[in-house]
Amino acid sequence: MKNRSLVSINDFTKEEILKIVRLAAEFEANPNQDLLKHKVIGSLFFEPSTRTRLSFETAISRLGGRVVGFSDSSSSSTSKGETLKDTIRMVSNYTDLIVMRHPMDGSARYAAEQSRVPIINAGDGSNQHPTQTLLDLYSIKKTQGTLENLNIFMVGDLKYGRTVHSLVQAMSHFNPVFNFIAPEELRIPEEYRLWLQSKGIKFYEHNEFTDIISRADILYMTRVQRERFVDPIEYEKVKNVYILKNAMLSNTKDNLRILHPLPRVNEINCDVDANPKAYYFQQAENGVYARMAVICFILGLV
Ligand code: CP
Repeated sequence: MKNRSLVSINDFTKEEILKIVRLAAEFEANPNQDLLKHKVIGSLFFEPSTRTRLSFETAISRLGGRVVGFSDSSSSSTSKGETLKDTIRMVSNYTDLIVMRHPMDGSARYAAEQSRVPIINAGDGSNQHPTQTLLDLYSIKKTQGTLENLNIFMVGDLKYGRTVHSLVQAMSHFNPVFNFIAPEELRIPEEYRLWLQSKGIKFYEHNEFTDIISRADILYMTRVQRERFVDPIEYEKVKNVYILKNAMLSNTKDNLRILHPLPRVNEINCDVDANPKAYYFQQAENGVYARMAVICFILGLV
C-alpha cells in the first residue's frame, strides 16, 4: 500500500489491522532497523502530547529516519495567521509523510485532502485517534492472546474520548461485548451506539462500575478531559466521578488487564500501579512498535 493516509480507524480493513498487530510484534522483537533511512517525517502537533509525539519520534529514530516539525504551534507561522491548508501544502513539499495532531474534529481528513504525502492522524479533537487504537489492539492481543469475544469495559469520558471512539469501531471486527460506564453528560455519542447496533454488537450502559467489573477482560479507563469542556462548572461536576482503587480489583478475573491511553489525573489511584493487572505503562511502550508498523505500512516498506 502506498500513499494512503490513516485518518480514521475505518480507513483500515480488519485484515490490515491484523497485519499491523503482527508487524508490531515483529518490530518489538527487532526494533533497530534501517527501514526509514533517508526518509523525512513531518511531526505537526497543534495540541499538547507526551506519548504520541515521543513514541512516533522514537519509532522514526530507531528505524533510521529523521523528524522535522513542531510540538507547539505558537512557534510556527500558524501564529502569524497561516492556514492549516497552507501549512500542510508546505510541509508536504518537505517530507515523505506527516503525523498531525490538531484540536479540531475533521482537521486530519481536511489535511489529507490538501497533502501530497500521507497523513497519519495523531488525534483530531474528540473525533479519532487511530494509532492509539492500533497500540491498544496490540496490547489487548498481547495480554489476552486473542482479540475475539472479549468483555470490554470502558469508563469515564466516552463522549469526547477520541481513543474510545476509534477503539469501539476497531473492536467491532472481533465480536466483543461492551459495557460503557459514564455519567449522563459523558455518554458515548449516539453515532457510535447506532454503529454498534448496525453491526449487531452487544453493549450495555451503566452509571456505576464497582459491582460489575468482575466480568471484565479489559477495563479501559479514561480521563475526563478538561480541555474539551466549554463550561468549567460542568467539568468540575464530573471530573472525579470514577476513581479506580486497588481494593476494587480483588474479585476480578485473572486475565483482567487495566488499560488507559494516559495521561491520567485522578481516575486511577496510584495504589493500582503495582497490581499485575495494571498494564497502562506497558501499553504506552507498545505505542513505539505499533507506530513503527503503521509508518512502514503506509510508506509501502513492509
Ligand atoms: N495517549 C495519548 O494520546 O497521550 P498524549 O496526549 O500524551 O500523546
